[in-house]
Amino acid sequence: MDSEARADALEEHMMAQLNTAIARKQGNDPKVAAQVPTAADIEKQIETRPYRQGAGFLFVPRKGENVKRLSPMPPNPTLIDFFSLRFTETSNHVLQSANLALKNGMSEEIILACLLHDVVQEIMRTDHGWWGAQLFEPYISEKVAFAIRYHQALRYFPDPAVGYEYPDLYRVMFGSDYVPPPYIEATYQSVRKHKWYMEARLVTVNDLYAFDPNAVVPIDPFIEIIGRHFKQPKEGLGNDNSSVAHMWRTIARPDQPL
Ligand SMILES: [Fe+2]
Ligand SMILES: [Fe+2]
Repeated sequence: MDSEARADALEEHMMAQLNTAIARKQGNDPKVAAQVPTAADIEKQIETRPYRQGAGFLFVPRKGENVKRLSPMPPNPTLIDFFSLRFTETSNHVLQSANLALKNGMSEEIILACLLHDVVQEIMRTDHGWWGAQLFEPYISEKVAFAIRYHQALRYFPDPAVGYEYPDLYRVMFGSDYVPPPYIEATYQSVRKHKWYMEARLVTVNDLYAFDPNAVVPIDPFIEIIGRHFKQPKEGLGNDNSSVAHMWRTIARPDQPL
C-alpha cells in the first residue's frame, strides 16, 4: 500500500470511529445507531473479501491493488532496517503510540513495548499479541515481552482506574454486541492478578484509537531506547539462528514462494 492508500485506510478508520462516537452520543437515533454493525453483520462480511482479516498487511494489500516490489534488505538487517523497509503499514501507528508513551513519562520498557506492540501484524493479525511477543522474545526483557503479549487481551476490558475505556473502534471492527472468546476472558482474568499487569495495561493506555495519517513521528527519539533494551544480533535479524529467525526472514522475503 503506498502512503496515499495508507492514509485513505487510516481515514476510513477515523471516520468509522467518529460515526461510532456520534452514534453513542445520539444513542436513540436508529438511523445513526444503524451505522455500527453487529457481530453478525461482521460475520456476514467474511465472504465478501478475497482474503481473511487475520492475514498480515505485508501479504495482502487492503485496497485490492497489486503488491509492490520491496526494497532489498541490507545483509545484516537491524530492527531499524525492518522499521524503514518492511513495517510500512504498522510503523506510523506504533511510532505514534511510543511517542504518546514518551510524552506521558512512561518507563523506557513501556515505550519500547509501545514501539513494538503491533508490528507483527505485517505478517499475522490474528492473536497478534502472542505472535508479536514471540517475534521479539529473544531480544527483549521478559517484562517487555509480557506487555506485548497481553496488550491484545486487555484491550477488550476497561480499567477506569487508569482511564482506559473499551475502544469505539472495536465496536466498528468486531460489532456492537461482540463478546471476546473464552480464552481472551481467561487470559484477562489471570493477567489482572499478575505483578506485571500494569506493564501490559499501559500499552493499551498509550495505544491510539484515533490514527492520525498526517502525524509522522520519526524513529530518532527511540534509537537510544532501542540500543539499551533491544539485543540486536550482530549477524542481523533472520541470520542469527534464534528460535524466531525464520519469522524475520519471512518478513524480509515475503515474495519467496516456499
Ligand atoms: Fe494491538
Ligand atoms: Fe495498537
